[in-house]
Amino acid sequence: MKTKYILLTLLIMNSMYITSSPAMPSWLKQAVFYQIYPPSFQDSNGDGIGDIRGIISRLDYIRSLGANTIWLNPLFSSEFKDGGYDVTDFYSVDKRYGTNSDLVELVNEAHKRGIRVCLDLVAGHTSDKNPWFIQSQQADANLRYSDYYIWPAFIPDDISEWAAGKYIPSDAPRGNYYIKNFYACQPALNYGYANPDPNHPWEQPMDAPGPQAVRREMKNIIAFWMDKGVDGFRVDMAMSLVKNDPDKKGTMQLWHDMKGWFAERYPEGVLIAEWFNPTEAIAGGGFHIDFIAHAEKDNYTSLFFNREGGEFEPLVCYFDREGKGELRTFMEMYSRHYEAVKGKGYASLPTSNHDFQRPNCYTRNTLPQLKVAMTFFLTMPGAPFIYYGDEIGMKFLTGLPDVEGSRGEDGKNRAGTRTPMQWDGSPNAGFSTADTSRLYIAQDPDPQRPTVAAQENDPDSMLNYVRQLLKMRSGSAALGNDGDWKLLSDVNRPYPLVYLRSAGDERYCIVLNPSDKRVTAEFPSLESAGANCRVTTAAPAKYSRGKKTDKVTAPPVSATIFKME
Ligand code: NOJ
Repeated sequence: MKTKYILLTLLIMNSMYITSSPAMPSWLKQAVFYQIYPPSFQDSNGDGIGDIRGIISRLDYIRSLGANTIWLNPLFSSEFKDGGYDVTDFYSVDKRYGTNSDLVELVNEAHKRGIRVCLDLVAGHTSDKNPWFIQSQQADANLRYSDYYIWPAFIPDDISEWAAGKYIPSDAPRGNYYIKNFYACQPALNYGYANPDPNHPWEQPMDAPGPQAVRREMKNIIAFWMDKGVDGFRVDMAMSLVKNDPDKKGTMQLWHDMKGWFAERYPEGVLIAEWFNPTEAIAGGGFHIDFIAHAEKDNYTSLFFNREGGEFEPLVCYFDREGKGELRTFMEMYSRHYEAVKGKGYASLPTSNHDFQRPNCYTRNTLPQLKVAMTFFLTMPGAPFIYYGDEIGMKFLTGLPDVEGSRGEDGKNRAGTRTPMQWDGSPNAGFSTADTSRLYIAQDPDPQRPTVAAQENDPDSMLNYVRQLLKMRSGSAALGNDGDWKLLSDVNRPYPLVYLRSAGDERYCIVLNPSDKRVTAEFPSLESAGANCRVTTAAPAKYSRGKKTDKVTAPPVSATIFKME
């Protein structure tokens, strides 16, 4: 009796902590993100490049999907050697996208429609043309921005090849090398070293004046935009800030401190990490959301990458009609992160993003296949992230030339996932009135390419399927961001994938079969009075209830959502 009482008290305390935690913005529970790559969404002035006024004109469309939060890739002044991730001025919108006032108007117009707006904070580096970096190059090390960057005198010989690759030779009076973060034109900002080596005077501790000044600058940038009404940030390469930090303790501490400041000042603001390790980012660094995506081999690669970067040898993946994929890699990793961040934040699974292939890629290119993939994305826990165009099944294009650094240093094709949005049947699919040769990136040449207009009135379209799923999700605590998740099928018998979403008495059983074979799964009985099919992409799976075990048989390439009574 006593134990029961203690357990109950603990349970109440725990749920109080979760629901009343000031660290979680109240709206996140219902948040559905829509990611916009600004140069590719909607051009309003006919120069072939998307812009802010174009985005404003499409806000009603975004709302019509059931999305309620936008994440915009960087819009700040840039040299565009890395699609805007090489910032020259964090306090101004680049003129090709409009003005700061346009961005404020976008925020206001979005808010009127119940849409929140998140920007992209490139916290780890700047452009090498940023005035801070230019000043930092001077021999005088006592200038305002001198220590915003890291200036090694030599490359230590005890470091790995990877770490040595970060040292970029320089003829600046200040030093022989600077440290880069991504491309050589992106010098790393100096947040200090977790384990500074006294023999390397450029390795400043995290609490040294330079690194502290950089932190203050980041807070200024955050406050500058938050005070204009923005709702939060996705933080680029958030895991990269503190150097020589193998266990990420320094970087977690840094974000933990930043988050404390942020949450106090902007309790309804959101911080989303690009870390690809939700346990570290959320449980350690205090972020609200992190992605499980493409970054590491074990992330979501095993589920969706059927052709790495679109240009290389085909890979075997789970969401493929061949049905030769495996689930263990993903499930082990996902379950670990899911448990570690439960109640603290979300490990989100984006449909794709500007860095890696869309679901429509290679042989995963039919409507039923794409619907199965979308069912997965929109019925998993955590806030959904829909990358623009995935809601109509836009294709990942291969064979495109480099556009503004789209071909990463490893030769990956990122242009193929950044092609302009396909709105309608007019020239350039309604993206721009510019001559086709001037488009930011060439569009899918297929005359049958998917468009919003063509799908709008087709009840079976991908677009309307996304709307249907999001509507269902918004009306259900079980299917929502916080609903519980449990794998039901056997991880060693990967097809079909069956999982349960639940909240209190409300339960949904999701059955996904990406393969072109009829497949069956058996799992411990859910002890329900009935399984009602609520959504299906093909003939529904068959659910048989048993005393000890339940059984589902799924037709080829199908998704079924059952409501358990
Ligand atoms: C990650 C961004 O998503 C990517 O597009 C960019 O190239 C690198 N960070 C460098 O900022």
